[in-house]
Amino acid sequence: MARLSRLSPVRGGRVFLCNSGAEAVESALKFARLATGRKKIIAAMRGFHGRTMGALSATWRREYREPFEPLVPGFEFVPYNRMDSMEREVDDETAGVILEVVQGEGGVLLGDGDYLRGVQRLCEERGALFIVDEVQTGFGRTGRMFACEHYDLSPDLLCLAKGIAGGLPMGAVVMGPRAADLPKKVHGSTFGGNPLSCAAALASIDYILTERLPQRSRTLGSRLKKGLEGIPSPVIREVRGLGLMVAVELKGPAAPNLAALADRGVLALSAGRNVMRFLPPLVITEDQVDTVIGRVAEVLA
Ligand SMILES: Cc1ncc(COP(=O)(O)O)c(C=O)c1O
Repeated sequence: MARLSRLSPVRGGRVFLCNSGAEAVESALKFARLATGRKKIIAAMRGFHGRTMGALSATWRREYREPFEPLVPGFEFVPYNRMDSMEREVDDETAGVILEVVQGEGGVLLGDGDYLRGVQRLCEERGALFIVDEVQTGFGRTGRMFACEHYDLSPDLLCLAKGIAGGLPMGAVVMGPRAADLPKKVHGSTFGGNPLSCAAALASIDYILTERLPQRSRTLGSRLKKGLEGIPSPVIREVRGLGLMVAVELKGPAAPNLAALADRGVLALSAGRNVMRFLPPLVITEDQVDTVIGRVAEVLA
């Protein structure tokens, strides 16, 4: 907890430990309601926050939500990167606003720095908590230890998981001063903070720092992005990304191309119908990046 508190961009830094990304989000939503005494949560269109009922209620895509409705009441969606909509929606009933710095599942859509800082300021002014979900972007993925650092953000609640413990199940919420006075024992989890996951997290964080993986992610991410941008294919609409979180948006469906890539030994994900998403391990080598670029070029030729 002390390590996360020192490392994270959240000032104050009390930490709640849990077991997954969805559980971190679920906890942050509860903390926001408890700290403010308000009910409304604002989330972004195309956002993804996990598959438990609260996290799913903050998740945009119909395919994820519909089979499990009715979901938790009190959630509203606004377009991402649109300050005017956010200004209209955040009011004195709003407990929290939850956003990703880069929308991963949504298609690797980059948040605008002014927008994200503006939402943070708006939350502060109107008494809502600013919740940032860095489950996917945390721990070096985007070229900084936390994506918040690109834009100098200091959220009230920061949700972490995935890369935190090098593959062992772990999640965390780092809480700033406006959420620090919550009573203890108001929320909990049997295996949250278990010694095995904590030891793995400490070892992973040490490795990420000593091997300078955020810097590596920045350098190799820009190599990957440039290489993909250089592919002369008529089916590519756009290449975008931050660090080793890179997407190729196609003019047609991603699925057949992803299958063809898998046949050539390259595992990539979809993000929506038309987007191929590349999130390689941060220890990928330059040669491997070049191989990926070559295989993508073959498939999209
Ligand atoms: C931004 C974001 N939030 C939350 C989650 C949920 O994390 P988990 O699968 O560990 O529950 C994910 C998983 O992909 C994610 O990308």
